Amino acid sequence: MDEQALRNLLNLEAEKSIDRIQIFDEIDSTNSESLRQIQSGNIENRVVIASSQTAGRGRRGRQWLSPKNGGIYLSLTRRFSMEANALQALSLVTAISVVDALQKFGAQGLQLKWPNDVLFEQKKLAGILLELQQKENSCFVVFGIGVNIELSADSLDSIDREVTDLNSIINEPPSHENLLAGLLNKLCRSLEEYESSGFSSFEERWNDLDCYRMNDIEIQNGESRIIGKSLGVDSDGSLLLQTAKGIQSINGGEVFPSLLPLSE
Ligand code: BTN
Repeated sequence: MDEQALRNLLNLEAEKSIDRIQIFDEIDSTNSESLRQIQSGNIENRVVIASSQTAGRGRRGRQWLSPKNGGIYLSLTRRFSMEANALQALSLVTAISVVDALQKFGAQGLQLKWPNDVLFEQKKLAGILLELQQKENSCFVVFGIGVNIELSADSLDSIDREVTDLNSIINEPPSHENLLAGLLNKLCRSLEEYESSGFSSFEERWNDLDCYRMNDIEIQNGESRIIGKSLGVDSDGSLLLQTAKGIQSINGGEVFPSLLPLSE
């Protein structure tokens, strides 16, 4: 991977909002490296990319399998002057950006599972891990994006959920540089839009992509379990759930299709 080749593919928004690009053959985790850089006082807007991760991290403390060239492993660090609670909507905006970028390369039929799993035919294609760090009175967000490109049968077997990869979905997969640039271009553009107009302009798009909208789902959060019909997200990015007790606004937890009736 060549930094200049990648830079040449960036659009105006990405070019102006990325100060540094670091490319690794192997690293523990691009998110961890980004957090370390902020901690060390290197607070420019930064992109960290790796061909493989030895300790790739997923949401909810899960591992993110990151074999060499098996996927895109990308973290973008950006300074934000917003409240920490805006993070939820930001993670939804990131998910929409990933879908839009992949669609441009011919991936059709992608859907989202709240808050930010990118799915194809109910199988996970890409995951997003946003991490927040305060330093010197500023708030930095690390946008970690993992996209499965080509996973071996062994890798697919070792993951405890249904996953898929881009090469199974599209006929002519783009180069990793093109894919990285496509993701960064779309994400930087969306983040600018989010900073100027908030989540409301993304709400409808998210709901159109939601794979469980108007379906019965179960939200698991630790020991707690809520069952209801998903009504999609509101203008803050919270998930609205029609339950037997009325509409509840959900801000955390993991969504599963519900096998139980709604009577609880
Ligand atoms: C999820 O569980 O769905 C989130 C997965 C996020 C994986 C990406 S890969 C690049 C970045 N570095 C990490 O360690 N995790 C994120």
